[in-house]
Amino acid sequence: MKSMTTAARTSLPLSAIGQRASLPAVAALIKTALENPRLLSLAAGFTDNSTLPKAEFLAAAQALAARTGDPEYLNYGTTAGRPGLRRILAERLKYWEPTLPADTLDARFFITTGSQQALYIAVQSLCDPGDIVLVDRPSYFAFLEIVTGLGARPKSLPYDESGRLQIDELRKMLGELKRTGEIARVKAIYLVSYFSNPSGRSLSESDKAALGRTLAEEGVIVPIIEDAAYRELYFDTPHPARSVLTLPEWNEFPKLYAATLTKPFSTGAKVGFSYCSDETWLKQMLAIKGPHDFGSANYNQALFEEILGAGGFEKHIPKVRQGYKAKMLALHEALIAEGLRDLGWQWDIPGGGMYLWLRAPANIDTGMHGEFCKACVQEGVLYVPGDMCFGDNPARNYIRASYGVLTPDQLREAAKRLVRVAKRFAR
Ligand SMILES: Cc1ncc(COP(=O)(O)O)c(C=O)c1O
Repeated sequence: MKSMTTAARTSLPLSAIGQRASLPAVAALIKTALENPRLLSLAAGFTDNSTLPKAEFLAAAQALAARTGDPEYLNYGTTAGRPGLRRILAERLKYWEPTLPADTLDARFFITTGSQQALYIAVQSLCDPGDIVLVDRPSYFAFLEIVTGLGARPKSLPYDESGRLQIDELRKMLGELKRTGEIARVKAIYLVSYFSNPSGRSLSESDKAALGRTLAEEGVIVPIIEDAAYRELYFDTPHPARSVLTLPEWNEFPKLYAATLTKPFSTGAKVGFSYCSDETWLKQMLAIKGPHDFGSANYNQALFEEILGAGGFEKHIPKVRQGYKAKMLALHEALIAEGLRDLGWQWDIPGGGMYLWLRAPANIDTGMHGEFCKACVQEGVLYVPGDMCFGDNPARNYIRASYGVLTPDQLREAAKRLVRVAKRFAR
C-alpha cells in the first residue's frame, strides 16, 4: 500500500508550472520562526499589531449589518470589484496624480486579493517561459518568485549602491540585449518606486523620467508595472515623485499601477487595487482573474468601502505612519548603539515603508545557508537574506530587516542579537 502511494506521487503528471513551483522562500523563514518561539523575526513583512484598525472594522461591520434590504455584500461580487470602492479609490489616485484624466478613472480600476494577485496576473498576461522582466536592483523577492515560477527571467536594471539609476549602463545593457537578439524577449518592466521592499528607497522623479526616456529612445516600449504598495506608508512627507501614470516620458507605455490597502491599513483584509492605462491589457487581466476567484472577497471590499467612505482610513493612517517611524528609529538606533556601524555595516534611514536594508562588509555571506544566518538563528534572530532580492547576479552581503511586527523593545533585543553575531564575524 505504502509503495503504491509513493508510486502514485512520483508519477503525478505535473504541468511545467506545477513542477517549477516551490514553496515561497519566505515560507521557510516563517516556519523557522514558528518552530522556535524564542526567535525574534525581522524576516516576514507582517504589519504592526498595535496599530491595526480594529475600531474602524467594527464600525464598518455594524454599519453594513444595520443596512436594510438584501445583504448583497455577503454575496458574490464581480471580477473587477465593487464599483463604489473603485470610485473612492479613483478619487484617491486623483489626489496623488492630479493630472490623470478623471473620465474613465474608476472603469480602469480593478480590485484584487492583495496587490500580489494583480502582480501575478500582470506577469501571467504578458510573459511566456524564457521571457525577460526588467526589475529594480534589489527587487521585491515575492515578485521575482512570480516571474521565475512562470518560467520567465528577471533581469536587474543597473543601479549603483546608493540606488541611482545608471543610464549609461542601461544603454549598454539594452545594446547587449539587441546584439544577442534577446531584446524581443523583454516583455515588462517592474518598479517598486516608493519606499521599496527591500531597500526602503524611492526612485527620484528624474531617474524615473530618465528610465522612460531611455527605454523609449531605444525602442523598448513594453508594459510597465509600477508597484506602489508603500506609497501611503511615508513617515513625515510623501515621496514627491509622480507615478509613471502621469510622467510624460512614460506616455507611450502601457501602464499598470498596483497598490494595496493591506500594508498601510490591514494585511488581514487582503484588498489590493490596480489601475491599468491600457484597455486590452486590462481586459485580458480580468479574463485571467475571473477563473482565479470569480471576484475577490466582496465582504472585505464592502468593509473598505464603508471605512474609506466614512473617512476612517484618513483618520487612522497617521497613527500607522507614526507607529512605523518609531519602530524604524528603535531598530536603527539600537543597531548603532550596539556598534554595527563601527563594524563596517551601512544602511540608509528610510523615509517610509517597513524595512532597513543592511549592507554587511563584502566578506560576510548573509545567505540563508551560510554560517552567518545559521549563527543568527542560534542567537535567536531571523532576517531575510538579501541574496533573495536580486533578479540576477545576487549580492551576498545584504540583510532585509523588517520592523513591521516586533515591538520597539523586541526590536532593540533583536538588534542586540544581530550585532552579537556580527561581532563574531568581524575581521
Ligand atoms: C512591494 C510589495 N508589493 C506587493 C506586496 C503584496 O502585498 P499585498 O498582496 O498584501 O497587497 C508586498 C507585500 O509584502 C510588497 O512588499
